[in-house]
Amino acid sequence: MRAALAAEVLGSVKIKIDDIRTVAVLGSGTMGSGIAHVFARSGYTVILRDIDKRFLDRALESIGKNLDREIKKGKFAAEQKPQILARIQPVTDMAAIASADFAIEAVPERLDVKREVLAQADRILRPEAILATNTSSISITALGAATNRPDRFLGMHFMNPVPVMPLVEVIRSKQTGDDAFDVTMDLCKKLEKTPVAVNDSPGFVSNRVLMPLINEAAFCVMEGVATAEAVDTVMKLGMNHPMGPLELADFIGLDVCLDIMNVLQKGFGGDAKYRPCPLLQEMVAAGRLGKKSGRGFYVYDGVK
Ligand SMILES: NC(=O)c1ccc[n+]([C@@H]2O[C@H](COP(=O)([O-])OP(=O)(O)OC[C@H]3O[C@@H](n4cnc5c(N)ncnc54)[C@H](O)[C@@H]3O)[C@@H](O)[C@H]2O)c1
Repeated sequence: MRAALAAEVLGSVKIKIDDIRTVAVLGSGTMGSGIAHVFARSGYTVILRDIDKRFLDRALESIGKNLDREIKKGKFAAEQKPQILARIQPVTDMAAIASADFAIEAVPERLDVKREVLAQADRILRPEAILATNTSSISITALGAATNRPDRFLGMHFMNPVPVMPLVEVIRSKQTGDDAFDVTMDLCKKLEKTPVAVNDSPGFVSNRVLMPLINEAAFCVMEGVATAEAVDTVMKLGMNHPMGPLELADFIGLDVCLDIMNVLQKGFGGDAKYRPCPLLQEMVAAGRLGKKSGRGFYVYDGVK
């Protein structure tokens, strides 16, 4: 009872943007390593947590390579690289995140996995710390319900590759408080990103607009309207898209695209406009997942 009261009182202490010095990143895969990279580059101490040391080693190696790329582009001096890397503390023990002022979850896109990780982090973090998720499609409200801090919980949707892409969708659930939301918007600016405020709804804005575009492009190929190359050329040269939708789908992963179409269809009560293209379903079933499997709408190096 006393502990619950203490948590409630401490919970009413609001964290301010200048109080944020240490950030925990949960999951060190594609997105977690990119998120750790941008926070460390902006001077934050980062506690990077994964379940196995080999994932953390792989993440640090990839961060090192991406920092080298930025040095080559003249983004900062080579002497700064060791300092940036030294700000990242790789850990496997969740208890090590206790000193974080802000935490971002970037574990696989599965509701059960995310709920478990978030509930665990919620128990360890200080009551006033803000907890965010980088989910691409799961309801922020549903994830916030796994924690005892739904007013200090929100979506912080970075784009891939994180060090390069300027956008962050900042997604508030009905329960997200103004303070946590404002601090997160400011935090994005500290990272030299552009935050855009979005309310919690299936696919948010990014995937709700992008995925039906990709899905429709796949329908064009399936129905023989045009080849994948032709569809992509129309969108690049006619609509000024830097990359065609099918090339982009291969880069994202066709399994990820299909999962998000399913989330949209379910989230909008089965609305037929979100029906996943059968060709996309067949390609995923056949293991043609795009660039990561060597074959999707295009064939990549090393695949016959
Ligand atoms: N890849 C993208 O283009 C992209 C873009 C935007 C958002 N997202 C979202 O970001 C999240 C992460 O995606 P990703 O592509 O980085 O996935 P990923 O598979 O590359 O990385 C996930 C990492 O989480 C780790 N992990 C698993 N369980 C864990 C646990 N209990 N605690 C800590 N770490 C754990 C895994 O070992 C792995 O290293 C997902 O929610 C995804 O939807 C992905």
